[in-house]
Amino acid sequence: MRNSGGAEKKRRKLTQRVQFKFVLAFFTLIVALLGLVDTYPIAASRDLVASEKESSLLSQAGVISASLSALDSLSSDAVGQVMSLLDIAGLERIIVTDGTARIVYDSRSPSDGGKYALLSEVALALDGRQVFWSRFADGAFTSRAAIPVYSSRGLSGAVYICERDESQAELIISVQSRLWMISLVCLAAAMALTVVFSRALTARITRLAEAMRVVRGGDYAHRIKPEGNDELTELSEEFNDLTERLETTEAQRRRFVSDASHELKTPLAAIRLLADSIIQSEGMDEATMREFVADIGSEADRLQRTSEKLLDLSRRDAGAPRALSRVDLGEAAAATSRLLTPLAAKMGVQLSCSAESDCLVTASEDELYQIVFNLAENAVKYNVEGGEVAIDVRRGEKRVLLTVEDTGIGIPREDLPHIFERFYRVDKARSREKGGSGLGLSIVHDAVVSLGGEIEVAAREGQGTRFTVSFPPAAEEGGGEL
Ligand SMILES: Nc1ncnc2c1ncn2[C@@H]1O[C@H](COP(=O)(O)OP(=O)(O)OP(=O)(O)O)[C@@H](O)[C@H]1O
Ligand SMILES: [Mg+2]
Repeated sequence: MRNSGGAEKKRRKLTQRVQFKFVLAFFTLIVALLGLVDTYPIAASRDLVASEKESSLLSQAGVISASLSALDSLSSDAVGQVMSLLDIAGLERIIVTDGTARIVYDSRSPSDGGKYALLSEVALALDGRQVFWSRFADGAFTSRAAIPVYSSRGLSGAVYICERDESQAELIISVQSRLWMISLVCLAAAMALTVVFSRALTARITRLAEAMRVVRGGDYAHRIKPEGNDELTELSEEFNDLTERLETTEAQRRRFVSDASHELKTPLAAIRLLADSIIQSEGMDEATMREFVADIGSEADRLQRTSEKLLDLSRRDAGAPRALSRVDLGEAAAATSRLLTPLAAKMGVQLSCSAESDCLVTASEDELYQIVFNLAENAVKYNVEGGEVAIDVRRGEKRVLLTVEDTGIGIPREDLPHIFERFYRVDKARSREKGGSGLGLSIVHDAVVSLGGEIEVAAREGQGTRFTVSFPPAAEEGGGEL
């Protein structure tokens, strides 16, 4: 109880953290975006106004300068007369200096005549340059321009004009404040949406985490109902796939364990029964007793074979390393054929083996023998009196091929997809009677796959079976550990 409370608390904390990170990331993104939206148009329109001011002020100064250029020398009276003829209403201040920067006209304080204009713009204009300067501050655009005045005798002075524009500045400020207002509303709306979305998102993530916990607890049948159509939906579907596989693997494992114990239990029960019969039947004749003991021996054999195969499978499942070398598949086939000849003779089956030389594959020797032996043994065991078994090994274009073909009882079509499953037998009674445990082909299959090979089966009920195994050929330099 306490444990689940702790887990719940942990999960809530995790959800909150994810939610917080999500909201923070969005908040930062939205603020950055709005900041850009707010500052860029304002900066651009300020630049636009400044360049418009530059051209208008310089042309106004140019007009004044041109009007004064008719004067030989710039005296207060003459300049005053010229200036009175000009419309200078929009300007805040106009200063005209002579060539020595002495003020000969000042629209703001006519009494300043005679003083020197200590203005950098004037100094530059007297140097023959056109100067413009503008600033947007304190709710106004302040702009200044200065240009030289030329008379027929050369540079005779400078014109300095200054303008303060509050109406354009007001416009920009009002646009700016509206943008800020809109941004604030957008920010609030985006934040509200982010919180709502993040809740929905984290709720789904939590559901996923919860489902993982349930499956980890052993409920492999648990599935998530995928919602929406996004990455989380994909993740949920992946999770469901994974869980389904887990469920299948778990079911296979259980079936394997129960099949294995059943396989071991049956011969043990038979041994027990036979032993009890011997003990309980007093005065049993020797021939019957021998028969019973022989049966006990064959049941013990079956037990041994099954447990060896189970051990082999579990070693393979655990991925135990085995020594690989360049092994001749032809030799393995010939040796197997020799080994199976007595059984074939007993069954009345004709066994033949043909092999090309140098059919080398990289494998562990045992593994290769196991593959050929299991296939050939089946071909002999599941055959009919007078039937044939042909083992053939040859080098194909890119693979080394092993074919084991028989004219035996064949395998029904519906059983073909299952024959490589552990403990699968087409005819349980018949296989058992032949001492089979249903593990041979699954060992063959696993061994072939682990050697990079492929196995195929073609069979027809009553007309025989053909197993074809292809291996990659051994490289020039073989050997190693897998
Ligand atoms: N050549 C074949 N012809 C007909 N049926 C076959 C042939 N090979 C395999 N089978 C069928 O496939 C089943 C599985 O074969 P497998 O070799 O795995 O098990 P087994 O021969 O019964 O037992 P084990 O090989 O473990 O002693 C067999 O029980 C048999 O029914
Ligand atoms: Mg077999």
